[in-house]
Amino acid sequence: MELKLKQLKQKSLLELQTKKNLQELESWNIKYFSRQNGELTKILRSIANLSLEEKRKVGSLANQIKQELSIAFNKKRKELKNKKIEEFFDVTLPGKKPKEGHLHPITQVKMELEEIFKSMGFEIYEGNELVSDYYNFESLNIPKTHPARDMQDTFFVKSETLNLKSETNSKFQIKTKNQKLNIQKSEDFVMRTHTSAMQVKIMENKKPPLKIIVPGRCFRNESTDASHEHTFYQMEGFVVDKNISIANLIYTQKVLLSSIFKKDVKVRLRPGYFPFVEPGFELDCSCVICGGYGCSVCKHTGWVELIPCGMIHPKVFESAHYPKGKYTGFAFGMGLTRLVMMKYGINDIRLFMSGDLRFIQQF
Ligand code: PHE
Repeated sequence: MELKLKQLKQKSLLELQTKKNLQELESWNIKYFSRQNGELTKILRSIANLSLEEKRKVGSLANQIKQELSIAFNKKRKELKNKKIEEFFDVTLPGKKPKEGHLHPITQVKMELEEIFKSMGFEIYEGNELVSDYYNFESLNIPKTHPARDMQDTFFVKSETLNLKSETNSKFQIKTKNQKLNIQKSEDFVMRTHTSAMQVKIMENKKPPLKIIVPGRCFRNESTDASHEHTFYQMEGFVVDKNISIANLIYTQKVLLSSIFKKDVKVRLRPGYFPFVEPGFELDCSCVICGGYGCSVCKHTGWVELIPCGMIHPKVFESAHYPKGKYTGFAFGMGLTRLVMMKYGINDIRLFMSGDLRFIQQF
């Protein structure tokens, strides 16, 4: 019995040292001191069955051990309580703000527009940035020799330098327009100059009725200045069905621009030329800055040129192999980057691609 008591003392003291918090300490207390099942309690209870002489001897030892253990227990409890106070988390202290990134202003406006279009029943497609000459130009009624090609300075990509099977590996050799003349035949690919490059590709795979938008990056071989950049964002939109008219085009644009600028806007159409629409228009919007009275943004005209658009040319439907004369539709190509510049009053397009955090952090 004596031996048992000594072993218990040793074991319990060792265990006590390992307790790291008040909860653990309490379970130690229960293990040894609980009234019903405590290991020490049980030994103390069994003393009653011993002979008188043994009772005296073992009894005093047991009491001594009980006392020692409860002293050790109290000491440990004090220690842990102090530690808890040290660890106390002061919720009133000012917090450290975690550094967060945020979406690029173009992405923000793009997502906002996508929501508006979705609510109008449009589907969203993205498509590739490297496209064939056919989808970017020819299918849109811009044949190889057509002067309209000059409207969009293009990054031509030599097709034989493309390893189209392993796209991840492909290295593109980019040629300028002048170099193109010598090696015309091999250049079948271009960095898309407009999101219109997706029009025929989508039409080939889908039958009307179509209500589609294509947001995305476009590229032009420009000399850059405050309003020209080699890389920019557009959002193409087109609607195809039976009996789609210019009235549908105007109404859609009006609703759209009113939701973007969150106020009622007026729109007007001026003639504009794009080979893949007939008739083609430049859509102007009443200046949202001055409300049409005239300011520096609208160059004192009260109107801002915003969206090139028009009724889809029959040649485009022909490229998509739609039955002749069955469908009509309209298309528009919003300059997303331009819209963001208007919205935030940014006067230099080059800031978007500059990688300058001082610019980006303002949004
Ligand atoms: N794709 C034309 C451009 O980038 C814009 C446009 C789109 C015009 C759709 C008419 C219809 O210049």
